[in-house]
Amino acid sequence: MPSKKRKRRGERPTIHPKNRYSDSPPDFSLLASLYPSFKPFVFYTRDCRPRIDWTDFNATRELTRVLLLHDHGLNWWIPDGQLCPTVPNRSNYIHWIEDLLASDIITKINTDLNNVRGFDIGTGANCIYPLVGASLLGWNFVGSDVTDVALEWAEKNVKSNPHISELIEIRKVPCAEKDLSGQDSSNCDGESSTNPLEEVKPLESSPPMMASSEDTNYLGPPILLGVVKDGEKYDFCMCNPPFFESMEEAGLNPRTSCGGTPEEMVCQGGERAFITRIIEDSVKLKQIFRWYTSMVGKKSNLKSLISKLRDVGVTIVKTTEFVQGQTSRWGLAWSFMSPAKKMVFSAVAEKSSLSFMLEGLQRQYSAIHVLQAVESFFQSAGVPCKSNASSFTVDITLSNEQCAVILKNEIRDSNEAIGCQYREESSDISSSSCPSVNDLSLRIAVFQQNPGSLLVSGSLQRRESAAPGAFALIFEQIEELLKGKFCR
Ligand SMILES: C[S@@+](CC[C@H](N)C(=O)[O-])C[C@H]1O[C@@H](n2cnc3c(N)ncnc32)[C@H](O)[C@@H]1O
Repeated sequence: MPSKKRKRRGERPTIHPKNRYSDSPPDFSLLASLYPSFKPFVFYTRDCRPRIDWTDFNATRELTRVLLLHDHGLNWWIPDGQLCPTVPNRSNYIHWIEDLLASDIITKINTDLNNVRGFDIGTGANCIYPLVGASLLGWNFVGSDVTDVALEWAEKNVKSNPHISELIEIRKVPCAEKDLSGQDSSNCDGESSTNPLEEVKPLESSPPMMASSEDTNYLGPPILLGVVKDGEKYDFCMCNPPFFESMEEAGLNPRTSCGGTPEEMVCQGGERAFITRIIEDSVKLKQIFRWYTSMVGKKSNLKSLISKLRDVGVTIVKTTEFVQGQTSRWGLAWSFMSPAKKMVFSAVAEKSSLSFMLEGLQRQYSAIHVLQAVESFFQSAGVPCKSNASSFTVDITLSNEQCAVILKNEIRDSNEAIGCQYREESSDISSSSCPSVNDLSLRIAVFQQNPGSLLVSGSLQRRESAAPGAFALIFEQIEELLKGKFCR
């Protein structure tokens, strides 16, 4: 997995607060005293701190084994060289999904948090997400994979835990086209090497691939489409994708040894291609999943994937950063469900003119004050605009970035995650949170009605240029502001 050095340690979020290791990291001394098989891997520094050699695959695998056993009551093993998960790190992703499901950002269909159903794309031999998700939270899972070794060991890991085995189905991804028609076929990896680091197989040796997507160059087996069965519904999917385009790119982190075969680490086009395919599948599957999520290893990919999500018209995008030690990764989530809060009904979103009444105006205020308040609302977001005191209008043209500033302000003000079209929460992304549209041109006008009441109207000046929804959201903010400021 790619790693990114943190420039300013301690400034970014680290471990999810619900993560059982958030307060106290694993106690190697205690584990060594309880598990004799772990003891040989623990040594003590001069200041008597217990350590393990992170570059020793056997040590990291044994640590994962004892943590899963000690803290989660799980029996677990993987063969040499397979990707060895770090438990605290993988738990962060599970807890983030838990937050997404518990939030009321999107419409809840399944209100029963005891009957959550997830889909783990590429569960691996380690089957870590289904095991942890089922044991911690009682979630049901389908864990998919393509390789014989992953399918065999994921199945073994599930069966070694009878208390949760009912909750987890390991599903083979149909690889060849004939597979999709329901006939038998071989798995996608052919024979797997027991020591992949010695024998790195070129991906060309893989069996028949599915059609490529022009956009992504993803040439691999199906991911969701063709794997999800008719009639199935899921609360979420998750994925720790093959991040790299080659084993050379993957490199071997000299500080750690977590294994990882080419089949686990590499796909043509890397994570960007893989996740783009998930996005394309999601466009077809839409509300079959409440949340689509994936881990992303490179921040540059995160940005381009968010743009892709905007282009395909998702209703919501959420991101988070996972930091462990020196490594940062990102969680990306999106949905096609209707936003439950701050909803912009499509009928409203499509309107090119909107209006509201300001009633019960306080005596000292008149139309000119309202006009000035509108002007300063936009100016505070860096949008130069000038009111026309004779026509009682303000003309405003907002760039994408300015639009983003205004919509982000709303998020900050309400201290709440995004919950409507065209807004995204992005912990650390400087790019716009507006849809990629041309400038938004609008006119706000104020009309005197009866004494003590004003009519405020907004109209889009160039209908085709504007993102439906963005105009409505901004106008909604103006309404809230003016009513709060001027009305009794
Ligand atoms: C980086 S590993 C992740 C394993 C495990 N989920 C984890 O977090 O440690 C990626 C996994 O995706 C699997 N994979 C690759 N292409 C896939 C596809 N089209 N569908 C399902 N799994 C796939 C690989 O075999 C590998 O097990």
